[in-house]
Amino acid sequence: MKTKILPKEDIEKQIKYMTQIKAENDRFATENGFRRGAFVMTFGCQQNEADSEKIAGMAEAMGYEILSSPEKAYLIVVNTCAIREHAELKALSTIGQYKHIKQKNPELVIAVCGCMVTQEHRVNDIKFKYPYVDFVFSTAAIHKLPELLSQKIKRGKRLYCTDEEYSVAEGLPIRRESNYRAWVSIMYGCNNFCTYCIVPYVRGRERSRRKEEIIAEVRELVAQGYKDITLLGQNVNSYGKDMGFDYDFADLLDELAHIEGDYILHFMTSHPKDATKKLVDVIANNKNVAKQFHLPLQSGSDRILKAMNRHYQLDRYMDIVEYMKAKVPDIVITTDIIVGFPGETEEDFEGTLEALRKVRYDMIYSFIYSPRKGTPAAEIEDQIPSAVQSERFNRLLALQNEIAYEINQKHLGETIRVLCDGPSKNNPDVMCGRTEGNKIVLFDGSSELTGQYVNIKINKCETFALVGEIV
Ligand code: 5AD
Ligand code: SF4
Repeated sequence: MKTKILPKEDIEKQIKYMTQIKAENDRFATENGFRRGAFVMTFGCQQNEADSEKIAGMAEAMGYEILSSPEKAYLIVVNTCAIREHAELKALSTIGQYKHIKQKNPELVIAVCGCMVTQEHRVNDIKFKYPYVDFVFSTAAIHKLPELLSQKIKRGKRLYCTDEEYSVAEGLPIRRESNYRAWVSIMYGCNNFCTYCIVPYVRGRERSRRKEEIIAEVRELVAQGYKDITLLGQNVNSYGKDMGFDYDFADLLDELAHIEGDYILHFMTSHPKDATKKLVDVIANNKNVAKQFHLPLQSGSDRILKAMNRHYQLDRYMDIVEYMKAKVPDIVITTDIIVGFPGETEEDFEGTLEALRKVRYDMIYSFIYSPRKGTPAAEIEDQIPSAVQSERFNRLLALQNEIAYEINQKHLGETIRVLCDGPSKNNPDVMCGRTEGNKIVLFDGSSELTGQYVNIKINKCETFALVGEIV
């Protein structure tokens, strides 16, 4: 199927709704001496963060003041995740908490969007159990927020916009959370249907943005002084395939890395079946590309990889890892691991531990398998008891912590360039930043350094952070 680029007229229609709502919100502000506020609550991955920046961008263009908490809002949008049950339960409980805000301010409009409500059974949950939610819109309908809001305000009826066709929408306003780190979506959706994963069902098939639009966006960010730009897609390695481009992700990354400026490009996520040596070469050859690779392994057992429909086996995965290590010395390698996939035996799990020992990841994101309604793995009889899952999960973490601690020791005494993120969340007296490979670094300094590069001499290396001082 050919990717649908949303016609300009469809975006112009939304801009018209934005202008109308803005006029009304401006009138309200003049009359009452304060502006109506909007609050966007985001769950889930970077793709959702990026979508929320568009939602906030539209809300701002509609004349709302963007708030950092929900209590005084006139518009709340909850952008939900469905990757694991825990994410859905968190979103539902948060939506539950907004009921009392609506009781205090009946003018408040509550909308729910994102992956969770792109599933019919969850739309029904909202319909019947959360009557104070005003409208719901699927991941394909993000750009329709102004129209839905306008209809809701005019007609007062609850709305469910869940049958929008998947497309690529260009030209929406974006309100970026940070002025030095940015997300840039290069494609949307996924074609892979890993048997455990809900994503292909809630984000549709792969759709790539045109390279011209991506290059223009990154150019603009670099010109504005952005220092750290992450290219986003469910599987960036299949960039362009849906468009029949004779131009792949490695070409795109290489072209972007040639934009003049002092910035670093990251990308996520890559599927090992599509990760190419050509891409590794682009990382090796460009100073503006982070020497980092996130390569989700999921399991270290060929049998389980097959049951997951991952389309690669361990030896192919290890080949690409070896190539990375040879071509890019000191590359930071990270991964995703699922523990307790249906049918996982002790031997399969040992295979995963062995893979960790072999690759020696700098960091792993590990998840206990969570059955997702409508996915093939949820139907497999042999689900693993949760006590076994937890026990394996703890062993996995213990091993990884050991490895990460050992790897981090090599940084002792090094001076590393770090992008400062401001005071640490755990200890506001200490500054926190990240290395090019995204390792956390803690150091003494002032919050004025936020958004700037600083050179830090490392004098202590822990499992999850390096500690040092400014030189
Ligand atoms: N259960 C547990 N983890 C999952 N992931 C995706 N689906 C599930 C699931 N049903 C993990 C995978 C993926 C990451 C984003 O989330 O490891 O790479
Ligand atoms: Fe889910 Fe697999 Fe697609 Fe990643 S590649 S989003 S794990 S289906």
